[in-house]
Amino acid sequence: MKIGIDKIGFYTPNLYVDMNKLAVARDVEPEKFTIGIGQEKMAVPPLTQDSVTMAANAALEIIDEVDKEAIDFVIFGTETGIDHSKSAAVYVHHLLGLHPNARSIEVKHACYGATAAIQMAKGHIALNPESKVLVLGSDIARYGLNTAGESTQGAGAVALIISANPKIMTLEDKSTYLTSDIMDFWRPIYSDKAFVNGKFSNEQYIAFFNTVWDKFKEETDMDLNDFEAICYHLPYTKMGLKALRTILDDVPEDVQEKLKANYQASTQYNRNVGNIYTGSLYLSLLSLLEEKSEDLDSGSRIGLFSYGSGAVGEFFTGVLEPNYQEHLYKNHHDELFASRKEISVSEYEEIFEETLPADGSNIELDINEDPAPICLSGITDNMRQYVNKLR
Ligand code: CAA
Repeated sequence: MKIGIDKIGFYTPNLYVDMNKLAVARDVEPEKFTIGIGQEKMAVPPLTQDSVTMAANAALEIIDEVDKEAIDFVIFGTETGIDHSKSAAVYVHHLLGLHPNARSIEVKHACYGATAAIQMAKGHIALNPESKVLVLGSDIARYGLNTAGESTQGAGAVALIISANPKIMTLEDKSTYLTSDIMDFWRPIYSDKAFVNGKFSNEQYIAFFNTVWDKFKEETDMDLNDFEAICYHLPYTKMGLKALRTILDDVPEDVQEKLKANYQASTQYNRNVGNIYTGSLYLSLLSLLEEKSEDLDSGSRIGLFSYGSGAVGEFFTGVLEPNYQEHLYKNHHDELFASRKEISVSEYEEIFEETLPADGSNIELDINEDPAPICLSGITDNMRQYVNKLR
């Protein structure tokens, strides 16, 4: 039975800061951010967007009545969840009006959460072929103002429906993975900003990629010639390129050129959003499918490298289905990007410093400024209040 990605939705908040202007404010050459890091625009979430609302907004664009009846499992991958106990998936389940006979859980391992969710979803579909699983990857990447990590912040969510006989991409069975207890990036529960050993994290990302890629080649009869593209977890768009470059010499020049061109297509959305942690790899896949000037052929194989600091890495593959283009929401995404509003560096700094009360006090937020259908409207008695403006 074929199991894979049936639909992909995406959401990013409506505000962004220009990386050239951030570079000037930080007294670094703009090319460091736009070329050295490879980022153009950084999404800035207002207080009315959190990991729950972003995931729900991403899912809203893809879910129809048939999906609502068939989804019996919601798996929410996040490392910026809103509660230590209740899963973010339950809030989204409610906001979307899904069928009550469903499981709803949150999974965590840094940026690897959504990949873990997809693998769990595949197992569920194998046992229950009529089911559909809603997989969510949603995060706000925060390192702090004036930190080295600042240029790699971002915010957004990806929603995927995993099903039998998928319309976009069949996920193949073979997958190679690796766990090693390292401290390259982490966020203790008392901190709303991540701690990171930046250079070490870059090295480990590449080392994990090389290990799972070599293992994949060893355990299959495939090599780089079998791939039309490789999509990477993209903390910033230069990162995946550094990993890709380590294996390009394995193939002739024309194949190298094709892989490099497809890599560029796979980074367009990420370049304009920033790091979205768990959803980042799937945003890269979406970018490849929607931003490539000529459509990829059905049957094309795409490699996927997932990396979650701490660390877990995985390499797996998917094969495109016939007419996959007809099941994408490219026009929505073009509109989403076009309707964003640029804010100045000082406005971004102000928004960054605004945080929700952590002392149990109530707050009411103005959701009229936020064009998203699903927003956080406040906190009452320690409970986040969510609104779906469309209901
Ligand atoms: N023109 C062009 N390029 C320039 C330049 C200029 N004027 N000035 C500098 N550069 C280049 C540098 O040469 C460098 O390129 P290479 O890496 O190819 O050598 C690049 O810009 C970045 O410069 P630095 O290494 O000096 O940058 P930095 O030390 O200030 O910070 C960083 C970079 C370590 C990635 C930092 O942003 C960071 O810590 N980010 C968060 C951690 C992270 O994203 N790690 C990635 C792997 S971990 C992961 O993937 C999980 C996750 O999501 C967090």
